[in-house]
Amino acid sequence: MYSIFKTTHSYAAWAVLILLVITVIYAALTFFGNKSWKVSEFKLAFFTFVSCHIQLLLGLVLYFTSPFGMSNLSGETMKDSFSRLLAVEHPFVNILGIVMITMGYIKAKKLLDTVNAPKTIFIYYGIGLLLFLSRIPWSNWL
Ligand code: HEM
Repeated sequence: MYSIFKTTHSYAAWAVLILLVITVIYAALTFFGNKSWKVSEFKLAFFTFVSCHIQLLLGLVLYFTSPFGMSNLSGETMKDSFSRLLAVEHPFVNILGIVMITMGYIKAKKLLDTVNAPKTIFIYYGIGLLLFLSRIPWSNWL
């Protein structure tokens, strides 16, 4: 069970990051080109939003099943930077990133047909992407 979720979380990370990069670049291009977003353009932001939430669910299951998740929380874990990254920093910062993406999605949905829709997605999804990238366990993953 643990290894299935770990492998799925690991591959899903590619999908999440690729979708996020595409969405942020597309939002920047349309915003700086002074164009608005309609429902059809907004679908990209929707799929990215859904992929982040699926990754959140996988991450939560992993947190309770992995030997590097909740079961590894202790004073010793805090002293070791890699253990602390997996048990505390990665989950906490990535949940914060997903909160930013969710807020951006909800705000932008109300701004469709204006140039503020891609602007909002660019800012909120961009912050979410930076937060994810800052706390990925790169040495474990690649
Ligand atoms: C959506 C953002 C997220 C991304 C892009 C992401 C990405 C990753 C990646 C690439 C790994 C390394 C996998 C490997 O070693 O093969 C990992 C590990 C892990 N993630 Fe996430 N993650 C995200 C969100 C979360 C959340 C929200 C939680 C918990 C609430 C979480 C919990 C974990 C745990 C516990 C591990 C360590 C698993 C282990 O090595 O046993 N992740 N994550």
